[in-house]
Amino acid sequence: METLKNKYLRREFLKQGSVATAATCLTIGLAPTLFADNTKSISQPAILGGQPVRTKGWPAWPIWNPETDEKQLLETIRKGAWSRGAIVTEFEEKWAEAVGTKRSLAVVNGTNALITSLIQLNIGGGDEVIVPPYTFIATVAAVLATGAIPVFADVDPETFQINPDKIEAKITPRTRAIIPVHILGLPANMPRIMEIAKKHHLVVVEDACQAHLAEINHRKVGTFGHAGCFSFQNSKNLAIGEGGAIVSNDLEFMDRCYSYHNYGNPYGTLVGAVGAGTILPGTKLRITEYQAAIGLAQLKRLDGQTTTRNINAGYLKSKIINIPGIIPYKLYDNVTRASFHLFPFRYKKEEFKDMPRKDFLSALSAEGIPCTNGYPTLNNMPFLENAFRTKNYKKMYPEKMLDINNYNENNQCPANDRLCNEEAVWLSQSMLLGSGSDMDDIAMAIEKIHTHADKIKNRSKN
Ligand SMILES: Cc1ncc(COP(=O)(O)O)c(C=O)c1O
Repeated sequence: METLKNKYLRREFLKQGSVATAATCLTIGLAPTLFADNTKSISQPAILGGQPVRTKGWPAWPIWNPETDEKQLLETIRKGAWSRGAIVTEFEEKWAEAVGTKRSLAVVNGTNALITSLIQLNIGGGDEVIVPPYTFIATVAAVLATGAIPVFADVDPETFQINPDKIEAKITPRTRAIIPVHILGLPANMPRIMEIAKKHHLVVVEDACQAHLAEINHRKVGTFGHAGCFSFQNSKNLAIGEGGAIVSNDLEFMDRCYSYHNYGNPYGTLVGAVGAGTILPGTKLRITEYQAAIGLAQLKRLDGQTTTRNINAGYLKSKIINIPGIIPYKLYDNVTRASFHLFPFRYKKEEFKDMPRKDFLSALSAEGIPCTNGYPTLNNMPFLENAFRTKNYKKMYPEKMLDINNYNENNQCPANDRLCNEEAVWLSQSMLLGSGSDMDDIAMAIEKIHTHADKIKNRSKN
């Protein structure tokens, strides 16, 4: 905490703010934004009218550099052949190489990467698929799109990941698959999950939509299960705007995925080859050449950015871990690299004079640190019941097989409820692309709120 304290003192000094002091500080290179309003006190929380710890912005996302990124994109656009072709194939080859699988297939988004994988692994009506409740809705939506039933296994709040100890109790004779989600870009416990899957003959589809280049024992996530699925949506660590990919070493499976994504035409069939002998029921999930050109440009910087995020996340964690009531994420021991799509920590209001999380978030935002509370509880949202009431579900599942009250009762996840409703706080991945001193600002803002928790909590009473 020493550096933090020094910085705090330095700002205390600045708030006294004579012109001479300001000029001296500028010559030694302190950010001019520190002088935003020297009538306000830095020692007062910004939410109570004090000066925010930070007034300057954060790294923008996505990153695009016209000089280095546009050559191939412009050539592609000018060529006028925009449907799937050589650039998409090049992107797939490079993505497979980056992840370390035999093949990758680019599709329109991560959601459809999951749906395609599940369907080609023969998951459908009558099956149950185990998922974590702490995930983006797409994981669950993909299961519903196949006609299977999502079954929720509670989270391990320390890692934010599906808790392997909660999986076996959820296995029934109808269970066919597990979808571990490497949520927030932190790897789930794949060795344990694969062991359970093997024991019960279950298929594993990894939702790695937030976990580009994350590793367990130097092996990339997405390569442990039968298939791995990625998203290249705008906020993701590899951003194309929209896009997704399936990876696998099972070439026969990948052939079927290719076929499904191109109207059921056999693997390798050219995109324009109409009536090429459709072999499977399929749909159209192809990405364009210009999307792939954007992906290739982004891929060049992904590794370096991942390293920066890991360094900054480790540093920030070390700065906030001793603040009472702040419990940063934990990584499993075998994790050699995370992606940090988000930087999560748990907030314990008991250590902040019982200030509710929403007030903590408002106070932190007011200090110039954007933050959110993350996911709501998925497992008791109305979309599930409404899916089970559709014509298809009613035909597939007689009432005694899918009783909604039983379903709700069996899918309670108390650890997840606590995480979603009370404790989780997220910082976005692009903030982790900043400097060490940006991380200091985050730590200082949290420390400041901790110091003034009483006043902030009671602000409406004053
Ligand atoms: C965990 C998770 N799964 C699946 C998806 C779906 O990806 P997409 O938005 O590309 O469909 C996302 C992305 O938003 C995600 O975060």
